[in-house]
Amino acid sequence: MKILVTGGLGYIGSHTAIELSKDYETVIVDNLINSNISTLKGINKIGFSKIIFEKLDLCNLNDVKSLFKKHPNIEGVIHFAALKNVSESVKDPLSYYQNNIISLLNLLSEINERKMKINFIFSSSCAVYGQSENLPISENEIKKPALSPYGNTKQICEDILTDFSKINSKFNVVSLRYFNPIGAHESGEIGELPKEEPQNLVPYITQSAAKIRGKLTIFGNNYNTPDGTCIRDYIHVVDLAKAHTCALNYLLDNKGVNNEFFNIGTGKGNSVLEIINSFEKVTGKKVVYKIGPRRPGDITAAYADNEKALKYLHWKPNYSLEDALLSAWNWEKNYRKT
Ligand code: NAD
Ligand code: UD1
Repeated sequence: MKILVTGGLGYIGSHTAIELSKDYETVIVDNLINSNISTLKGINKIGFSKIIFEKLDLCNLNDVKSLFKKHPNIEGVIHFAALKNVSESVKDPLSYYQNNIISLLNLLSEINERKMKINFIFSSSCAVYGQSENLPISENEIKKPALSPYGNTKQICEDILTDFSKINSKFNVVSLRYFNPIGAHESGEIGELPKEEPQNLVPYITQSAAKIRGKLTIFGNNYNTPDGTCIRDYIHVVDLAKAHTCALNYLLDNKGVNNEFFNIGTGKGNSVLEIINSFEKVTGKKVVYKIGPRRPGDITAAYADNEKALKYLHWKPNYSLEDALLSAWNWEKNYRKT
């Protein structure tokens, strides 16, 4: 079976492509807007079968048409391709709406036109819950307005997929709402490699420890949490990657499933200071930091109720926070050496 992985040279897509390559013929598309072609070398070094790569922009409908013409036997799509920098989306909302929505619409219109039978997995985010007051956050949580244009694109894409799945019985979709993926493949061949200065906590910590960046700024220590810093649900990226193969099997096994949503997180929350302390403990590296002001749009605490994924996807996270932080550091060290 042939599976299309959009954004497959990115952080989560590359780890998922490795998992998929055990059982499926895998085609990656990416326009390299936030990834590096060197990742393809890493993927093919550790993947289980050869992965096909097509460089193209999903916002270009003609490119998408050519893709499906070349690979008419695609039966599954995992749609990672998107812009994901929350603060950049506040400064440049149009680019985010343009890229994240048009890329999805182009894929769907081609699937529709070709009358393809497709199992589709969408990379959603806990950002769809907005400022949730209930913890842990379950899929039944009433969605609040998103706190950023980025989060809003995820809400809109979920709605587009819901509406499309209602009119197309050959189109089955699962949206996975990721919490905070961290870490890297155990080989150290692939990991998180943002093109610009990292916005997320763990790549900033590893780059700061590798002396690529200066001091880490902790965005606020006056939140209503035990140590004053924000709490998130950090999940090893390989556990997250495996959730995609579980979701694909779920769609293949449950023919009646048309449109479902799952939280993918560990179910546990850790504060920013806990992450720094754990990183120092497992790597022996000191993280130099200062306390700065709160980052606009940050929520105090978010962690997943993951019971639905455990029950229906037959998935469970296997790695610890320490495993994830150590793998992130091993990747950083390995990459900087090359
Ligand atoms: P990433 O930026 O590393 O990967 C995204 C990939 O998509 C990049 O390689 C980029 O070049 C590609 N891309 C973007 N627009 C494209 C287009 N128009 N055409 C072709 N390729 C395009 O991001 P990631 O962390 O791997 O995230 C993957 C998905 O998961 C995204 O949809 C993101 O919003 C979502 N997500 C990520 C996180 C996180 O913390 N990393 C959390 C929740 C949800
Ligand atoms: C955010 C989004 C998530 C999105 C992801 C991808 C929300 C609620 N979450 O995750 O949907 O998919 O980005 O980019 O919108 N921190 C510091 N210093 C730093 C960096 C981060 O203190 O230099 C803190 C943040 O304030 C936060 C925690 O670390 O409390 C995690 O931040 P980050 O890694 O950016 O993830 P989220 O903001 O949770």
